[in-house]
Amino acid sequence: MEVIEAIRNHPLYAEQYEKLKQAEEGRKFCRHQMEHLLDVARIAYITNLEQGLQIRKEVIYAAALLHDIGKYRQYTEGIPHEKASARIAEVIFQDLPDLSLSADEKSRILRAILGHRRMRDDMDVLEKLLYASDKQSRKCFDCKAEKDCNWDHRKKNFMPEI
Ligand SMILES: [Fe+2]
Repeated sequence: MEVIEAIRNHPLYAEQYEKLKQAEEGRKFCRHQMEHLLDVARIAYITNLEQGLQIRKEVIYAAALLHDIGKYRQYTEGIPHEKASARIAEVIFQDLPDLSLSADEKSRILRAILGHRRMRDDMDVLEKLLYASDKQSRKCFDCKAEKDCNWDHRKKNFMPEI
């Protein structure tokens, strides 16, 4: 997918991803490396097909690949990662004007990234899809560190998908 390659190859994405990858190496809790980002993208895309949401694959994958990219800044600068990730995504979108995403799709992606950590009543469809897929990607039911994890119990995933 051209959109995804362009995002992954952007120097800011590559730099932030590499830092994040290194920072999370050996972490006992959920990691936010490519496996997680792609799990979220695939779960979201399957749900999109199952529920007939009609969101373009490029939009789902771009949102998933970008949603945690600011996590390193949360670790080092204390910036909530949804805000850091949205800011990085915004810079990348500005730098890549030929990216085949419409202005509306870009703003929905930014909104989804910003809203992906908390369930709200007024969520946009993409925002809700990203939140739910992020949660479903967690394997709390099979995690040795689950007891030490300070995530809200309601956010943990104890039900493997059928
Ligand atoms: Fe995530």
